[in-house]
Amino acid sequence: MIEIKKLNKTYHLKTGDVSAVRDVNLTIHDGEIYGIIGYSGAGKSSLVRCLNLLEMPDSGILHINDNPEIVIENGRTRLSERDLGRMRRGMGMIFQHFNLLDRSTVFDNIAYPLRYSGMSRKDIEARVMELLELVDLTDKRDVYPSQLSGGQKQRVAIARALANKPSVLLSDEATSALDPEATESILTLLRSLNQTLGLTIVLITHEMAVIKAICQKVAVMENGYVVEEGNVYDIFANPKEEITRRFVNSASPLSRVHKMLEEDNPLTRIKPGEMLVRLTFDRDCVGESVISEVSRSCGINLNIVLANVDIIDGAPLGGMVTVLSGTPENLEKALRHFERAQIKVRRLA
Ligand SMILES: Nc1ncnc2c1ncn2[C@@H]1O[C@H](COP(=O)(O)OP(=O)(O)OP(=O)(O)O)[C@@H](O)[C@H]1O
Ligand SMILES: [Mg+2]
Repeated sequence: MIEIKKLNKTYHLKTGDVSAVRDVNLTIHDGEIYGIIGYSGAGKSSLVRCLNLLEMPDSGILHINDNPEIVIENGRTRLSERDLGRMRRGMGMIFQHFNLLDRSTVFDNIAYPLRYSGMSRKDIEARVMELLELVDLTDKRDVYPSQLSGGQKQRVAIARALANKPSVLLSDEATSALDPEATESILTLLRSLNQTLGLTIVLITHEMAVIKAICQKVAVMENGYVVEEGNVYDIFANPKEEITRRFVNSASPLSRVHKMLEEDNPLTRIKPGEMLVRLTFDRDCVGESVISEVSRSCGINLNIVLANVDIIDGAPLGGMVTVLSGTPENLEKALRHFERAQIKVRRLA
């Protein structure tokens, strides 16, 4: 388990101070894929760099797995170099730009962190081959990074990060430089490493689609603070903060409706007696049969403009943008019916 308590980090620049991490408290359980999302400058990289003490926080408490609790005050900790090294080896890290050694082969890149571990050459060779197999790159052992695609480079970086058998992998925008197909394959690899090795993954991204694809938990950062946190499903079904809503919308095909409204698209143009609404069906609601039922029993018409069902963390989350038409009383009746069926309704026009 990783516990972060009251963590703070301020950079002191000539132009003034930048508080990059402010009073952050997080608990990440073993085996979780925990996402941290935020816009550029929110403090995501600072937070993970503080987590493995690549960057020394100003203050806070870090408790990582079975290591002794690290108390940091005034930018200092009493942890010995030995304990610090042990703690760092327990956490591998991967980056947006891979950070590979261009003049070394794939084999040597992966072997690099093992060089000073006291392992014999034979054991290193065996471990590297095992890692190459894990990331499906056995045929690339003797090539150089420049001869690899972006996705393959990230696989090498993942293998290198796992060389010392860490229990935690920190991933800082690891898919941001990749095309959608390579992103998909790296996310699939991360999910499978999480499942087969029980690896805990802390995954930083600015893309809600990445969170949706593989995370169970998510924290939203803004201005150094964690402003919202919880299960990915709950955050998608019920975002509370404005910034979270923006992220959730960015990953939803239904958010196209706002553009359609702006452009006065005929599909979203409503006439008197009509109402444009967005309906959200989460796993607790009665289901989409409600739609036909409402139409029948309340005497209204529903014209579907956009519809979508996502599977998030194994559970369905559906949404629909629809034009309702009928008498004011019947529309009112329909809205009450939706509410009773626990369907969330937001009026758009
Ligand atoms: N080494 C540093 N020295 C000074 N200021 C820094 C340093 N690293 C980050 N900052 C500042 O701290 C704030 C948070 O930066 P950070 O890199 O943690 O954000 P981020 O959320 O990772 O952004 P991005 O999505 O662009 O990677 C920013 O205002 C940034 O300019
Ligand atoms: Mg960053």
